[in-house]
Amino acid sequence: MKIGIYPGSFDPVTKGHLDIIERSAKMMDMLIVAVLNNNVKSPLFSVEERVNMLNEVTKGLENVKVDSFSGLTVDYARKNKATVIVRGLRAVTDFEYELQMSQTNRIMYSDVDTIFLTTSLEYAYLSSSIVKEVALYGGDVSKFVPACVVREIHKKVNA
Ligand code: PNS
Repeated sequence: MKIGIYPGSFDPVTKGHLDIIERSAKMMDMLIVAVLNNNVKSPLFSVEERVNMLNEVTKGLENVKVDSFSGLTVDYARKNKATVIVRGLRAVTDFEYELQMSQTNRIMYSDVDTIFLTTSLEYAYLSSSIVKEVALYGGDVSKFVPACVVREIHKKVNA
């Protein structure tokens, strides 16, 4: 059974993330979307909220499971018998950091390989940070995130 993990902050999940989830899930038997606990100092959403939103937007994808983890991605991969780490590459600016992470991860756990999917062009500009900034200044984020996430962002912004 080929198990992959797609680790990230997902604060919140965007349409760009969803694109990577849908495409990479087709390549494996099971894809675990794993929300990292603690990597962002002041996240907009709690880990539980992020997991709930991911569950909602992936509910039609049978081989996708959502979870959260603390610590190293490779330790989580090992524990879950995952042999593939999935990451999305939007632009060349992502490359250096992603290369460093994938090489470090492979040195720490040689049974795991990172695969990179290039983000679909319509989402190449998109990031959770940009979405949060647009939302905080009252902009419409419905082109960037799934509808249920738009609702959750509005709740936060209005609170
Ligand atoms: O969505 P992000 O913030 O770009 O995801 C980054 C993430 C979660 C993949 C990365 O920070 C990570 O793997 N953190 C867990 C700690 C870890 O394993 N660090 C070593 C990576 S070389």
